[in-house]
Amino acid sequence: MVDLRSDTVTKPTHGMREAMFSAEVGDDVFGDDPTVNSLEAYVASLFGHEAALFAPSGSMANQIALQLHVPPGGELLAGADAHVVTYEVGAAAALGGISTRTWPSVGADLDVDQIAAMIRPAGYPSVPTRAIAVEQTHNLGGGTTVPLATLRALRDLSEKSGVGLHCDGARIWHAHVADGVSLADYGACFDTLSVCLSKGLGAPVGSLIVGSRERIAQARVIRKRMGGGMRQVGILAAAGRYALDNHIARLADDHARAKRVAEALAPFGVVDPSRVRTNLVLLDLSKSSLDAPTLAARAAEQNVLIAAMLPKIARVITHLDVDDAGVDQAIEVLSGLLAGS
Ligand SMILES: Cc1ncc(COP(=O)(O)O)c(C=O)c1O
Repeated sequence: MVDLRSDTVTKPTHGMREAMFSAEVGDDVFGDDPTVNSLEAYVASLFGHEAALFAPSGSMANQIALQLHVPPGGELLAGADAHVVTYEVGAAAALGGISTRTWPSVGADLDVDQIAAMIRPAGYPSVPTRAIAVEQTHNLGGGTTVPLATLRALRDLSEKSGVGLHCDGARIWHAHVADGVSLADYGACFDTLSVCLSKGLGAPVGSLIVGSRERIAQARVIRKRMGGGMRQVGILAAAGRYALDNHIARLADDHARAKRVAEALAPFGVVDPSRVRTNLVLLDLSKSSLDAPTLAARAAEQNVLIAAMLPKIARVITHLDVDDAGVDQAIEVLSGLLAGS
């Protein structure tokens, strides 16, 4: 079975399991877990921020960060296709009392002037804009990256307007490798970032919120309130540190394999390979007689798993547990199905 549904399906490697086995641990709710403390300090330093906080999932890390910026009744601006809007099951509203207004689905092709024009100042009786969230890389945008110049323009906007800037950086490592931008340069653009260790990097669990010492102290309280305070969690932090030390540079292989899939399937009119920047390939089936669930079901019959994201959009993701032979098999199966459609 070649599983290309997500880069979260990876299993911990032998080396990672050994790191987990020998991790020193303590009760992290008391701040006593040396492996967690060390991971948090390390990740903060990678992004040039003062502090970081380990969280169980990317969704919780995002939602904690949004609550840091936006009080109940305040407004978040984000893309209509942002993960925080579309795939966190209404958490901003349900858990944070946050009102969300969106710009049209443009993936990573952000228009800073358009975002600037959406900002509403504080003052009765409007809903004040308190934060902007952007995604790097952009999942529904097909793993595309937001250029550093755009992020810097957003930083200027954030400073001029006093509106906080958050990065959903679940796959920021992929952008770093694809665009050659340092993590510190990304870090300098944002007030807070959430970053994931379990998407493409191979850790079984774990995300971090990155920000100032003051914000992260508050984040710790919100995490506990949300039920995310964990105890001897150094076992997981050790997996995360192993992933950071061993699995970032190799993302270039995943990107090359995704490009190969895109180039092979381009003749069927479902993907433009020049848009494939990282490890995600979106297949646009709008001109095909197949819909995404049918394509996924038929591919599964031939031992290739892909995700149906929308009725006419399927997604292929390369990752640590898929090699060249697996990619060849996927190309053969998907080409066969698309040729007959
Ligand atoms: C861009 C993005 N942000 C956040 C998340 C949420 O991560 P989790 O599944 O760990 O909650 C995901 C999950 O795939 C994602 O793709």
